Amino acid sequence: MGVFASFLVLSLLSFSASFSCGEMQPKIGVCYGELGNNLPTPSASIQLIQKLNGKRIKIYGTNPKILKSIQGTDLQISIMVPNNLIPDISTNQTLADQWVQTNVVPFYPESKIRYLLVGNEILSNPPNTTWFKLVPAMRKIRSSVKKYGLHKIKVGTPLAMDALESSFPPSNGTFRSDVREKVIRPMLHFLNRTKSFFFVDVYTYFAWVSQPLQINLDYALLQPTNITYTDPVSGLTYTNLLDQMLDALVFAMKRLGYPDIRLFLAETGWPSGGDPDQLGANIYNAATYNRNVVKKFMAKPPIGTPARPGAVIPTMIFALYNENQKPGPGTERNFGLLYPNGSHVYPIDLSGKTQVSDYPPLAKPANNGKLWCVVAEGANKTALTGALSYACSQGNRTCDPIQPGGKCYKPNSLIKHASYAFSSYWAQMRAAGATCSFSGLAVMISKDPSYGACKYPSVNL
Ligand SMILES: *[C@@H]1O[C@H](CO)[C@@H](O)[C@H](O)[C@H]1NC(C)=O
Ligand SMILES: *[C@@H]1O[C@H](CO)[C@@H](O)[C@H](O)[C@H]1NC(C)=O
Ligand SMILES: *[C@@H]1O[C@H](CO)[C@@H](O)[C@H](O)[C@H]1NC(C)=O
Ligand SMILES: *[C@@H]1O[C@H](CO)[C@@H](O)[C@H](O)[C@H]1NC(C)=O
Ligand SMILES: *[C@@H]1O[C@H](CO)[C@@H](O)[C@H](O)[C@H]1NC(C)=O
Ligand SMILES: *[C@@H]1O[C@H](CO)[C@@H](O)[C@H](O)[C@H]1NC(C)=O
Ligand SMILES: *[C@@H]1O[C@H](CO)[C@@H](O)[C@H](O)[C@H]1NC(C)=O
Ligand SMILES: *[C@@H]1O[C@H](CO)[C@@H](O)[C@H](O)[C@H]1NC(C)=O
Repeated sequence: MGVFASFLVLSLLSFSASFSCGEMQPKIGVCYGELGNNLPTPSASIQLIQKLNGKRIKIYGTNPKILKSIQGTDLQISIMVPNNLIPDISTNQTLADQWVQTNVVPFYPESKIRYLLVGNEILSNPPNTTWFKLVPAMRKIRSSVKKYGLHKIKVGTPLAMDALESSFPPSNGTFRSDVREKVIRPMLHFLNRTKSFFFVDVYTYFAWVSQPLQINLDYALLQPTNITYTDPVSGLTYTNLLDQMLDALVFAMKRLGYPDIRLFLAETGWPSGGDPDQLGANIYNAATYNRNVVKKFMAKPPIGTPARPGAVIPTMIFALYNENQKPGPGTERNFGLLYPNGSHVYPIDLSGKTQVSDYPPLAKPANNGKLWCVVAEGANKTALTGALSYACSQGNRTCDPIQPGGKCYKPNSLIKHASYAFSSYWAQMRAAGATCSFSGLAVMISKDPSYGACKYPSVNL
């Protein structure tokens, strides 16, 4: 809304406009996580971010060394109140004041602190009384920010897409009922009143990985395709998955009576590696996605989304580094634009000035399109025996190679035989609607389990 109009007004008003004007200009930032024991120092990191042409930084705390290092640069920064302080801050203005006085005031305005995020993805944790203290804590922090005259700082909190119970079609976007009235509604009221943003972490990667056969990979990677999806209710037409996800939030906010709160894409990204069988996690896809994100959000004039055409959506790419101390699956440690030694995982220019076609060509991944269906870890052996005989009873000679004398008979293990049977069954029966599930006994993998002369049948994405 009004991007062009306000730009015109601001340029007529020439100088006093620099702050509002800055907010309207697209800028890409980078999330600077520090969960690694081998990462460069803050000041070296700031130089690396500048070399990437990043314009903003998001940190997951208030590391004073980072806040000092950005002084004298144009980098704007987003800082964070730790999750565990939320309960106490929510009921204690003195504590909020103290926190802001200690962590923010000494660095402002020399450090361009622009966003103060209260907690990180609080509503993604298991049900917990902290949920209901989040908005009161945001209000207290905002009072402190006003008290100390930190006028350029917006207060918000980043949520993940699991704040929604429905996101498809986008027009059906609806916040989860367990938080809708007690958390989200007062939060939207706060964000609207303070002209802040709805900060959201959106990963098309996780959506795609959970349904790789239903969602086209290029659609999730923001590649130009001829695939479109038209929302039957809104009539809006989508050309990529990220727009669909962002608009689901726009519709969810609208449903609660807040159609105009701006979106801030507080995290997005794609892993460049992971455990060997982690689907779609490779340099080719990571580079493709992140370059397309830069192109989309740096476009002039701004593109926005189908529900918000022309809107500027400030964006932070996750993450600066591969962080070797992040818990979880291997992909979690491979979201970085840079290796810990500071070299690029793949070339990327966050300014948007490098055309996607100007980058050197990327090696296509060895396997970007095949899946196998194998036994899930910890599968119940009794149930597995039943599933094996079911899989072998379907289709056309599905299990011949695991019969005595067959190429996959040895080693004669239940897990190996069942994995073969699942892959074979799925490859044959998928066209008829079969899935790789077997009540949770099976999982899809993208690493070929074949060995020696034993070749497992696969399914193409
Ligand atoms: C509740 O959530 C907060 C914030 O995410 C977390 O720090 C805390 O450990 C959780 N408490 C319990 C009892 O799970
Ligand atoms: C509020 O926080 C201040 C500063 O940490 C502390 O001294 C005070 O005891 C707290 N008040 C209550 C009621 O907990
Ligand atoms: C819309 O969302 C509701 C939950 O909020 C869900 O029950 C319903 O199935 C969704 N509609 C469609 C068409 O997916
Ligand atoms: C949101 O903010 C706008 C502008 O300040 C105001 O006109 C509108 O009434 C607010 N919406 C709600 C639902 O409070
Ligand atoms: C889209 O369709 C046009 C015309 O059918 C075709 O020339 C073009 O190659 C297609 N583009 C992609 C990316 O598939
Ligand atoms: C940096 O680390 C990566 C990944 O470990 C490695 O491939 C690359 O060669 C290293 N570069 C330098 C300059 O050491
Ligand atoms: C394993 O599966 C069998 C057959 O489905 C079931 O009877 C048994 O309770 C299961 N065992 C465990 C430990 O879940
Ligand atoms: C079964 O598979 C064999 C080859 O493996 C093929 O010759 C035959 O036509 C198939 N039969 C049916 C009914 O699909």
